Amino acid sequence: MSQLWIRPATPDDAETITALTDAAFGTPEEAQIITQLAKDGDSLASLVAHNDRDILGHIQFFKVWVDGEDIACGLGPVSAHPEVQGRGIGAGLIRFGLTLMEGAGRTHCFLLGHKEYYPRFGFSAELAAQFESPWSGPHFMAKQLNAGPESGKLAYPAAFGA
Ligand SMILES: CC(C)(COP(=O)(O)OP(=O)(O)OC[C@H]1O[C@@H](n2cnc3c(N)ncnc32)[C@H](O)[C@@H]1OP(=O)(O)O)[C@@H](O)C(=O)NCCC(=O)NCCS
Repeated sequence: MSQLWIRPATPDDAETITALTDAAFGTPEEAQIITQLAKDGDSLASLVAHNDRDILGHIQFFKVWVDGEDIACGLGPVSAHPEVQGRGIGAGLIRFGLTLMEGAGRTHCFLLGHKEYYPRFGFSAELAAQFESPWSGPHFMAKQLNAGPESGKLAYPAAFGA
């Protein structure tokens, strides 16, 4: 594959990100979350991976409140275009995004995702279980990024309807 870059998304990328996310997930709900997070001011980072022609991947990070404090983040949705999945685009976006969130001082990153995929990036269901949240179980995972609380009640953006 040709060389890839990761950069922050711009408003001009919105339609492409929606099409990519719809294609990766096969349903419109995930792209609607991305749009709503931006509208509500709850997005922390929206990043795209692209080559010299196309956007091939996207990742979203958003605010998560712990006991009412805006200190953590959430990851998702993340997508790689169906034609180029399994070539490290998702992993590159996840690693780059987590580094960005760590540098921004976010204490933890939470996500709901494939339990076989995310532990390789340091996510653990055990850590997430310490927190009270709208979600639970093996698919709900957390990674510590900076010093922060070991437990607490999580609040998610309105875009998640939780
Ligand atoms: C999940 C996704 C973002 C990963 O990005 P990617 O660029 O395809 O993946 P990478 O090349 O970085 O990593 C490949 C690994 O991801 C794993 N993977 C991909 N999709 C997976 C899934 N649905 N469940 C579990 N593992 C999955 C592959 O098995 C592979 O594992 P291996 O390295 O042990 O062989 C991408 O496949 C995608 O867009 N999937 C559809 C949308 C989706 O499910 N998003 C994530 C929701 S949690």
